[in-house]
Amino acid sequence: MSNLARVAVLVSGRGSNLQALLDAAADPWFPADVVQVVSNVPGAYALERAALAGVAASTVVSKGRAREDFEAELLGHLDGIDIICLAGFMRVLTGGFLDRFRHRVVNIHPALLPAFPGTHGIADALAHGTTVAGATCHLVDAGVDTGPILAQGGVAVQDGDTQESLAARVLAIEHRLYPMCLRWMAEGRVSVEGRRARVRLLPGETRWVGG
Ligand code: GAR
Repeated sequence: MSNLARVAVLVSGRGSNLQALLDAAADPWFPADVVQVVSNVPGAYALERAALAGVAASTVVSKGRAREDFEAELLGHLDGIDIICLAGFMRVLTGGFLDRFRHRVVNIHPALLPAFPGTHGIADALAHGTTVAGATCHLVDAGVDTGPILAQGGVAVQDGDTQESLAARVLAIEHRLYPMCLRWMAEGRVSVEGRRARVRLLPGETRWVGG
């Protein structure tokens, strides 16, 4: 029997963060195994990435459905799952669902939270004129991008940056942050005190990734 943490990744789109997790998990020393991918959007490219990696993939349509109804079907795909990673999953999960996976649901967001939560993190940072942008990996609570922060990383905003150019540099940070945080989760090195996450870091590790 393997003692790797069993991970499900929830996706809605292209799945580059899913790919970063799949690539990390391909290392035999990585402490987690991605065993299930679920998309709420039919035909999402992330499903193809799962198939190419030989990981079980399914679609649970969310559009036009009550959240509880959607989540009841979703739960049917999450039997025996230890950790859920949201990777570009554009649905808010209910407190009832999260209670079943207390402190075991992780998200990646393309902004330095608590600044710029929601669906337009990059555009909002650009519009605000910040000189740094970045990404946050955090535990999920019932709010929108409000849960305890595991790690963050940043890049400088350049004059002339477009949404695309900035998003590409932030995405590179996301791809470094997410496997790192999943490792901490899978190794049981994360605890939560109030709204703060604590991580037992090994020598040389930090919770900030510079770009
Ligand atoms: C990523 O930038 C992720 O941070 C963002 O969607 C993108 C998905 O890309 N998520 C959010 O904005 C959630 N609020 P991917 O499908 O290539 O991983």
